[in-house]
Amino acid sequence: MTALTAEDFAQFGDAVIVLINQANDQNTLAQLRSNLQGKKSPTTALSKQMGKLDGEGKKTYGAYLHELRTRIATALDERGDILAKQALNAKLLAEQIDITLPPRHRPTGGLHPITHTTQRMKQFFVQAGFSVATGPEVESDYYNFEALNIPSHHPARAMHDTFYFDAHYLLRTHTSGVQIRTMEKSEPPLRIICPGRVYRCDSDQTHSPMFHQMEGLMISKSSNFAELKGVIHEFLNAFFGKEMTVRFRPSFFPFTEPSAEVDILSDNGKWLEVLGCGMVHPQVLRNCGIDPDEYTGFAFGLGIERFAMLYYGIDDLRVFFQNDVRFLGQFA
Ligand code: PHE
Repeated sequence: MTALTAEDFAQFGDAVIVLINQANDQNTLAQLRSNLQGKKSPTTALSKQMGKLDGEGKKTYGAYLHELRTRIATALDERGDILAKQALNAKLLAEQIDITLPPRHRPTGGLHPITHTTQRMKQFFVQAGFSVATGPEVESDYYNFEALNIPSHHPARAMHDTFYFDAHYLLRTHTSGVQIRTMEKSEPPLRIICPGRVYRCDSDQTHSPMFHQMEGLMISKSSNFAELKGVIHEFLNAFFGKEMTVRFRPSFFPFTEPSAEVDILSDNGKWLEVLGCGMVHPQVLRNCGIDPDEYTGFAFGLGIERFAMLYYGIDDLRVFFQNDVRFLGQFA
């Protein structure tokens, strides 16, 4: 027998590799692998020939055969990797999610109109140099009334429809108590606003037992009524986004002197009351340890719901607190 040459092994190997690379799916390749590496494979047959060779011939033949087997195994593995990758890609493609599809409707939340209105108010006053103060909603008789120049026998108390806990504690009926708390603990000059919840035993289309007020207080050596008028007028212009016609009408609050109520002229020619204000009463300053001969100041208080109703054109205050998403959704 004439022994097979290196050339023969190489040619055979080339042909087998072409075959391997033609396998187009993993099953075909598995079949090919068992044909090429199993007991009935050509390389097994070739190895049987080895017995017929002697010494040196056997050695080279063995080396050729080993190289052939290695080439076949490498080609099978490489083709296997390629086919596995292709199979994975095909699977991923089949399972692909179409992200261009519009999602199911998911309603988004928004700020409550009262929160939004409060933020717009704050924005104006913070820009004007006021800082935001807070106070407790469960308030003492002293801060809610007494220190504000409303002693227990004063008729003004009757106007407040107060929720009392006992003889000393109540739900604050206005944010004015924060004026006292602020003046007690800080040195003038002062410029604060205090937005927050207040409570009165009253409920109809324009009143709710809980509502929101924003208090303003400015104390300095030179504050005067003209300054108060300027600040309020600028605020109203900024809030409603146009030049407002404003009227200061003499009024009474026990804690301010002189006092005024502020009206704006509405589009239909009617005057609408929007806030109360005045120069801080000297007795109130004295109650907080501030010398009224040295300092003066002004204060104002407004109902946030009232402003929100005018701004959005809402005529029933109760809708703010019914949590009807059909109403709230209009502000999102
Ligand atoms: N506290 C008053 C009210 O609730 C409003 C007000 C505040 C008036 C500050 C004058 C000065 O009606």
